[in-house]
Amino acid sequence: MTRLNWGMIGGGAGSQIGPAHRLGAQADGNFVLAAGALDVDAEKGRAYAQSLGVAADRAYANWQDMLDGERDRPDRVDLVTVATPNSTHFEITKAFLQAGFNVLCEKPMTMTVEEGEEIVRVAEASGKICAVNYCYSAYPMVREMRQMVKTGQLGKVRLVVANFSHGHHGDATDADNPRVRWRYDPAMAGVSGQFADCGIHAMHMASFIAGDEVRSLSADFASTIPSRELEDDAMVNFRTEGGTVGRLWTSSVAIGRQHGFDIQVFGETGGLRWASEQPNQVYYTPVGGRTQIMEKGEAGLSDEAGRLSRVSIAHPEGFPLAVANIYVDLAAAINGAPRDALPLATDGLRSMAAVYAAVRSAKDDGAWVDARPPMFT
Ligand code: NAI
Repeated sequence: MTRLNWGMIGGGAGSQIGPAHRLGAQADGNFVLAAGALDVDAEKGRAYAQSLGVAADRAYANWQDMLDGERDRPDRVDLVTVATPNSTHFEITKAFLQAGFNVLCEKPMTMTVEEGEEIVRVAEASGKICAVNYCYSAYPMVREMRQMVKTGQLGKVRLVVANFSHGHHGDATDADNPRVRWRYDPAMAGVSGQFADCGIHAMHMASFIAGDEVRSLSADFASTIPSRELEDDAMVNFRTEGGTVGRLWTSSVAIGRQHGFDIQVFGETGGLRWASEQPNQVYYTPVGGRTQIMEKGEAGLSDEAGRLSRVSIAHPEGFPLAVANIYVDLAAAINGAPRDALPLATDGLRSMAAVYAAVRSAKDDGAWVDARPPMFT
């Protein structure tokens, strides 16, 4: 397979998610970084892109120049990754889709449900792929859990319990640090803080593994550090279309929890447990039986888990290679072999609808509300 040309917006030097995209996109030789507008500071971005091997004429000062510069090139980029701050995702993603580029957008895909619906419509009209980086769904053992549910090994899923709770914003003396403060300021972060930042990963994964979409929810939001306008802790109860019960806790003040993303899936005939800090193992308990530890790379796992694992058994295969799995599926889809597990704009839209539903519910003392995007009701 020939390498696809790849362009990146955001993810400049020192950014949090930029390195994971560069490692991920280039891990399997599917993509080569051919163009970029990597930084809000034009000169820094151009210099950094060139230091990564991008030709000077494709190291752009900003995303608008990149759109103009790439649009008519015969070797234009096959995929654009949008890894800028949240409030810019909609405008950039929409513009590149309309110009006929495939896009991988960071989460949250948009700031509002209306924008999310527009991206879904624009992607459909363009015939291009619009993926959203729910990268945790691409860990091999998460795919294994999904396959187990799909093939009936747990029976009907009764209950999903998900947590994405860390303690890195738990120090009240650091609450005014500008890198922390914006996340709880509606002018910068939108309607939700922690739920929109981390909770939506957990909610996406619950739907992804259960093979079912969220229908309704009830939320309790708290700002445990009083100067914060938006929530730094949330408990969200939900129900899926198929009646599965969902419980989700997300927090940024859970001091002592580091990454803190774990999920348990309880079906009629068994239960599963996975944690992102030990991503190579799934704990599986068949009803009435002993708990077994399933290990990435061992015999007997699904083809899907095998396909996305490239390091032999017992060696850590971590976050950048989960991101790489998103790029593996994207490369296949761009080459005409769609992958049903690739998170798409519809998933980004469902997350945004859940965020707005949770905000509504929390303001109404936890009343149950419809969490579906209007276009899917
Ligand atoms: P960051 O603040 O560390 O880096 C942002 C980068 O984008 C910087 O290099 C900045 O110069 C650049 N930038 C800002 N505005 C730009 C513009 N208009 N044009 C070009 N470049 C621009 O932010 P971080 O933490 O890397 O987050 C970026 C996005 O990735 C966010 O939407 C965040 O929610 C998402 N994210 C996703 C994760 C995941 O697990 N999928 C994990 C961490 C972040």
